[in-house]
Amino acid sequence: MVEFSNGRIHFKVFRNKTLGSDYISELIKSEVESNNLYSKPTVLGLATGGSPKKVYEKLITYHITEGLSFKNVITFNLDEYYPIDSKNENSYHYYMIENLFKHIDINLANIFIPNGMLDRNDIPAHCKDFEDKIEEFGGIDLQLLGVGSNGHIGFNEPGSELSSKTRLVQLDHRTRLDTSERFGGLSNTPKYAVTMGINTILKAKKIVCMAWGASKASAISQLFSKKITGECPITFLKKHPKVELVLDEKAASLINPEFFKKESLFNK
Ligand code: F6R
Repeated sequence: MVEFSNGRIHFKVFRNKTLGSDYISELIKSEVESNNLYSKPTVLGLATGGSPKKVYEKLITYHITEGLSFKNVITFNLDEYYPIDSKNENSYHYYMIENLFKHIDINLANIFIPNGMLDRNDIPAHCKDFEDKIEEFGGIDLQLLGVGSNGHIGFNEPGSELSSKTRLVQLDHRTRLDTSERFGGLSNTPKYAVTMGINTILKAKKIVCMAWGASKASAISQLFSKKITGECPITFLKKHPKVELVLDEKAASLINPEFFKKESLFNK
């Protein structure tokens, strides 16, 4: 593993996504364990998609083999497609149940995922409730993020604003293309989603963002330009005081090697 900082952001580059995911699941485990020790709740912000699958697998293993308990854990998911039935296999509700929740001892009342089934008119109130709930629980302790090939975080697509909160958004064409295979073609792929905003994400106490594979390399390289721009929403992470970027070698492949040298990297 190689680690270095650029401005406020701390980078850890692992040889592959399994090693990177192991690192992240250990981070989450120790956050939950240390709070459990004092019967304190842990508020996690969770992501879906391909990126966190191995992290969730490992958390399930910790639960089964080491008794890691999620009874005091509250979760807020970043986003959900709209419109989509929560029973649809491609919904993020379904994903979370299948890939994590049904395997651990989390209290179902402690799970919050944006609702993709509401009438459009009811969405603003739902989004406000979602934001209020996060506040009620004292804010998110650790927010897990993936990144889209276009630089989106959550479903905050290019053009998103720093001040954005949980809301209904239109999905970028590239995002729809990236996921269209799962939906059986572009015409079946949702055009909208309900997502936490940039402002919502940046309020988390700690952020861990992961990126695996060459398709993420271009978005990651934007973190090394001086610009913070809604055209590449991941660049907003530069405004947060406690962000860690966990990458595999392919996602790190467009980071200028000169930068690595300058920062005198160390290998472990
Ligand atoms: C998912 C989410 C998205 C994904 C991103 C990467 O909850 O918020 O931002 O993290 O689209 O998706 P994968 O991991 O499938 O490459």
